[in-house]
Amino acid sequence: MTTASAPGKLMLLGEHAVVYGQPCLVTAVDLRYFVTIERTDDEYVQVIAPDLVGSTEARNVPVREIGKQFIKETAYVEAVIAEFYDKYGVSTGLRVSTRGPAKSYGLGSSSAVSAATVMALAKEFGLVLSNKEMFDIAYASVLKIQRGKASGFDVASAIYGGLLYYRTGGTQIDSIQTTQLPIVIGYSGTKVGTVSLVEQVATLQKRHSEVIDTVYNTIGRLVEAAKHSLSEQDWHQFGELMNINQGFLDALGVNTAKLSSLIYSARDAGAFGAKLSGAGGGDCMFAITDSASRDSVIEAIQNAGGMVLDLEVNAGGVRIE
Ligand code: PMV
Repeated sequence: MTTASAPGKLMLLGEHAVVYGQPCLVTAVDLRYFVTIERTDDEYVQVIAPDLVGSTEARNVPVREIGKQFIKETAYVEAVIAEFYDKYGVSTGLRVSTRGPAKSYGLGSSSAVSAATVMALAKEFGLVLSNKEMFDIAYASVLKIQRGKASGFDVASAIYGGLLYYRTGGTQIDSIQTTQLPIVIGYSGTKVGTVSLVEQVATLQKRHSEVIDTVYNTIGRLVEAAKHSLSEQDWHQFGELMNINQGFLDALGVNTAKLSSLIYSARDAGAFGAKLSGAGGGDCMFAITDSASRDSVIEAIQNAGGMVLDLEVNAGGVRIE
């Protein structure tokens, strides 16, 4: 029996543009998901995922059907198993159970579960896979579920951990060393799904391709500049770049009034910068602030109706427990 765990993620800069080849910056957050895998003698993959499904009832899928029929809640686990079985010619029965936080806040439950599943499988079947090999399996399976519309930044974050500079498809995955990231994370409430937001932005791009391509390019450039300010720990500059990025996300149509209210409140309370994180349409925003303004920024986000999440950033990547 093997258990692996992987962290959630927080997109720092570059969302949406990263789907079209631009770089992004992402940090792993200490919201860990656990996957336990055990081999069995029967011909079923049994999945018990109370945290994902909301019930302890097991789901039984014949090994030969795995990845062909799935339900939304356990799709990521099953897609990774299918990918792994296909690649390594395995057809063993399995018992899989997952455990995670009661709420995911849009901070990468599916990528964390995918990363933990691939590592637990590798260990259970005696394979030593590199981070990149695990990434390739998990990303291929995520792409199948998300209709090809995923950059894979969240999967890379769950596997490598820490702070990453990332390019679509994992063509570049660089760790950035930084001792701290003075961040406050605010949750704005539920949102529309990532895939539909990505599709909405794709539709806008089709209608105004030159304009939107310029937006993507500029986001790419500001990510390069932000990477530099991160290495220099120049939070003032990093915050300014966050604010610029937020303006472009608004231009892409993925901001909401609620997110805006949290973001402006944080800025007014003295944050260097504040922006939404991820696909938009809800979920989280974050602010970068010095220690003098930290308490006021937290209070401002709460007063604007946000829930401040006390999470460690720069968390460790996937690991065997
Ligand atoms: O909604 P999230 O936190 O999963 O972030 C999605 C980020 C996008 O750039 C919009 C999509 C992607 O796959 O990179």
